[in-house]
Amino acid sequence: MSKIVCLLIIAFAGANAMTFNTSSRLSNNNLAAENQFPYMVSIQRTQTAVPTRGHICGGVLITLQHVMTAASCLTVFAAGSWTPIANLAEYRVFAGATTLSNDADPNRVRSLARIDVHTGYLPASRLNDVAIITLSTPYINGTSIRALPLPGPLVGPQENTACTIPGWGTDGLTATATPSVSLKFASKYVYSQSLCQKVYANLAGQPNVFNSMLCSASHDLVSTGCLGDEGGPLVCDGLLSGILIHTNNCAPTSFPELYTRVSNYTVWARTVTGAASTFQPGVLVLVFALVQVFVSKFVN
Ligand SMILES: *[C@@H]1O[C@H](CO)[C@@H](O)[C@H](O)[C@H]1NC(C)=O
Ligand SMILES: *[C@@H]1O[C@H](CO)[C@@H](O)[C@H](O)[C@H]1NC(C)=O
Ligand SMILES: *[C@@H]1O[C@H](CO)[C@@H](O)[C@H](O)[C@H]1NC(C)=O
Repeated sequence: MSKIVCLLIIAFAGANAMTFNTSSRLSNNNLAAENQFPYMVSIQRTQTAVPTRGHICGGVLITLQHVMTAASCLTVFAAGSWTPIANLAEYRVFAGATTLSNDADPNRVRSLARIDVHTGYLPASRLNDVAIITLSTPYINGTSIRALPLPGPLVGPQENTACTIPGWGTDGLTATATPSVSLKFASKYVYSQSLCQKVYANLAGQPNVFNSMLCSASHDLVSTGCLGDEGGPLVCDGLLSGILIHTNNCAPTSFPELYTRVSNYTVWARTVTGAASTFQPGVLVLVFALVQVFVSKFVN
């Protein structure tokens, strides 16, 4: 985003009197404690042997074997169109520790078995910007690794609900910016949907805000998503409410960030993860009954 637009936004927010520590604007320097975000994962390119382990995006465990993230994190532009990344072996998922270099424990790392990009994903408008990774083997449930269940369909957070977003994103938008080795987090609140639509509509080159998207902003004006924070979960009142898809390019303003509204995709996500991983006692009872019918037919 250009400087002029940034300045306009700052003026819009009435925040032009504030000064910012640009070296700490990612998430206002809140370092996450171990086990604070046990559902948080880092999606990485395996070939990069650096302390940040090739981190490209955040993601969230919605079951112990499925990661929800942004489609834009898992698609590449090739031959004139966006397609899901082809070579799954080049990627891996890391979970269970706040420090990316802390990956000696094999229980923290999983390879990818499959990627499901939402079939309605439109890269230009960011519509349906959501994808699910199926891991080759599930993680082991524990205090440091735990799934954050999907919200009920169309259960959205109320305006002004307090939210949190964790991320390993960069501290700035320079060419040399690298992701943060340590997990940070920012406090957010759910932004007015109609105001967000107006803010975005008034800016050139910004996506439209659809109802299947959600906006959040920070009260402190310095906590903003940056490169590598995309795909991460916005958690509001303990519910998985958003997947970060669009930030203000690290600029510290009250400009709202854009998320895929997860509750619009609960039904889709359940079809991807399968009934067994969306634990519902009713479904299990039904399965049990069917097994009994099946068994009784063979026993008799
Ligand atoms: C800005 O943040 C960095 C990183 O935490 C810190 O080292 C530095 O002292 C801060 N600078 C100011 C002027 O507060
Ligand atoms: C993981 O463990 C927690 C705490 O014991 C439990 O509430 C949760 O249902 C477990 N999840 C799975 C998928 O087994
Ligand atoms: C998304 O969910 C909201 C309610 O949270 C609803 O108003 C809206 O119509 C839904 N949009 C789509 C495209 O399903």
